[in-house]
Amino acid sequence: MHDAVPEDVMARACRVLGARNLVLVGFMGVGKTRVGRLAATLLHRPFIDTDAMIARRAAMSIPDVFAQLGEEGFRGLESQVVAEVSRHLGQVVATGGGTLGRTENVERLRASGLLVALSARSDIILARVGGAQAGRERPLLRTEDPLETITQLREKRAAMYQAADLQLDTSDLDVIEVASALLFRLADFQDRRGEGEA
Ligand code: S3P
Repeated sequence: MHDAVPEDVMARACRVLGARNLVLVGFMGVGKTRVGRLAATLLHRPFIDTDAMIARRAAMSIPDVFAQLGEEGFRGLESQVVAEVSRHLGQVVATGGGTLGRTENVERLRASGLLVALSARSDIILARVGGAQAGRERPLLRTEDPLETITQLREKRAAMYQAADLQLDTSDLDVIEVASALLFRLADFQDRRGEGEA
């Protein structure tokens, strides 16, 4: 892995990030947690997974949070965790697939970090989240046809993920390749924030 990302690329990526958090966003199953953990190791930064924080806070699994508090209850906890995480800098943060659904979360994450949206094709996502068993860990995929649900939800959320500063398709890449591509992209990143914004 260290061979895959030359030192000068690592140094440039670190410079681009500065104190900001590196925030991974995107649909379920695109690799936010696994890539985030590896990127954090390479960047020598603490790794935070917002879903893991929610589960710890609630002392329940994510499916149990959905079952007991409903999606709104889950989103409330998610916003609390995002607010808290965004008060600290220098971290790598993996978010949940629906985190950017609330404007307050987008604002907080963008104010404290650089957002990278990972994506993947629907069939790849389904395979990565457990195929027909997808609903076990992901309550939103507890439907008759999880592939169709993934496709529809991805379409509905496409604009939401555009809030990210960088986009990276992970469909045909393994975790190491994604982390490496991410660091190369970061190293060459030109901040376009502010351009065209009100
Ligand atoms: C969700 C994605 C999940 C988790 C929850 C809701 C979503 O996280 O936050 O089940 O709305 O897409 P992952 O993206 O890590 O699967």
